[in-house]
Amino acid sequence: MPLNHQILLDNRPQGAASASNFKLVSSPTPDLQEGQVLVRHHFLSLDPYMRGRMNDSKSYAAPQALGEVMQGGTAGEVIESRSPRFKPGDKVVGMGGWQEFSVVNAETPAAMRKVDTTHVPLSHYLGAVGMPGVTAWYGLVKIIEPQAGQTLVVSAATGAVGSAFAALAKARGCRVVGIAGGPDKCQYATAELGFDACIDYKLHTDAGSLSKAIAQACPAGVDGYFENVGGMVMDAVMLRMNAFGRIALCGMIAGYDGKPMPMSYPTLILVNRLKVQGFIVSEHMEVWPEALKELGTLVGTGKLRPRESVAQGLAAAPEAFLGLLKGKNFGKQLVKLI
Ligand SMILES: NC(=O)c1ccc[n+]([C@@H]2O[C@H](COP(=O)([O-])OP(=O)(O)OC[C@H]3O[C@@H](n4cnc5c(N)ncnc54)[C@H](OP(=O)(O)O)[C@@H]3O)[C@@H](O)[C@H]2O)c1
Repeated sequence: MPLNHQILLDNRPQGAASASNFKLVSSPTPDLQEGQVLVRHHFLSLDPYMRGRMNDSKSYAAPQALGEVMQGGTAGEVIESRSPRFKPGDKVVGMGGWQEFSVVNAETPAAMRKVDTTHVPLSHYLGAVGMPGVTAWYGLVKIIEPQAGQTLVVSAATGAVGSAFAALAKARGCRVVGIAGGPDKCQYATAELGFDACIDYKLHTDAGSLSKAIAQACPAGVDGYFENVGGMVMDAVMLRMNAFGRIALCGMIAGYDGKPMPMSYPTLILVNRLKVQGFIVSEHMEVWPEALKELGTLVGTGKLRPRESVAQGLAAAPEAFLGLLKGKNFGKQLVKLI
């Protein structure tokens, strides 16, 4: 059996995460038992939620255990099987973690699923046609409930979730405005992702100033907001929400290092009769088939052409992850493992 390189959570961050929180180890892959398969990971997904799990605090999911392989989504290929459900050569997506190989109990429900790479590249099953894409779909369809002609705003607009959101919202006839960090990301948002406008939040030092830019890009106000960031960005959009607007609270990455994220204008929720709803995509497995079908079609037909930032080799994962938390990624952040 092959030697497996793995990255463990060695210690918990105090404030910002750092490379010293992780430890690279190696160990032989165990022999397969009946019902198990051996998967070689081609891609590891790096996602902001991993930062929350590094803390030992109350959350919707248990913390990442110390001394264990970091949890994470993976896409790869079955290389050995003792299960009738999978055969060598099958392309699969699962939660293999930060390691090069995983042994999976194929009989465990939803442990792993086969994917078809004829029209959709394997890596996209970790991004646009995977968990981040379904996240965008859920917040848009089930919480924002858009109508054609309405104006929608999304923060972290060019990331894995934000870019899928744009394609899904455009397909529903909405005006879609992004908020992203820097001129390159904003140019990419309008030129390639189909955004009607994109605002560079880094040009603004306070919510009032950013809010004026949002007003210019959204002359009819904001009917739906997909929140990925929190803090000043959320305050600025709140100031432009229309009556009966909907806010899908997906993430607050600006606060993942533990900084307080106060909301400056909660009165606006009352005054504008807003719906503000948080959600966790893994708690809505019932929508995944429908969402994945639409996302797969958008990618297969070229209407969604997601960009990826790909780090090379498992040892590069910690730095790539820390970069993701600082916005150094351009699109979905992956690690290529072979
Ligand atoms: N609720 C759920 O079930 C669920 C599921 C998946 C993801 N999420 C959340 O969705 C959000 C996006 O995830 P993703 O995987 O698509 O990541 P991503 O957008 O590909 O990458 C994260 C982006 O966040 C932005 N960012 C980082 N720090 C920021 C700050 N202080 N202020 C403003 N922007 C900052 C950066 O973009 P800029 O350079 O543009 O700032 C960075 O590129 C995250 O908040 C994540 O936690 C939630």
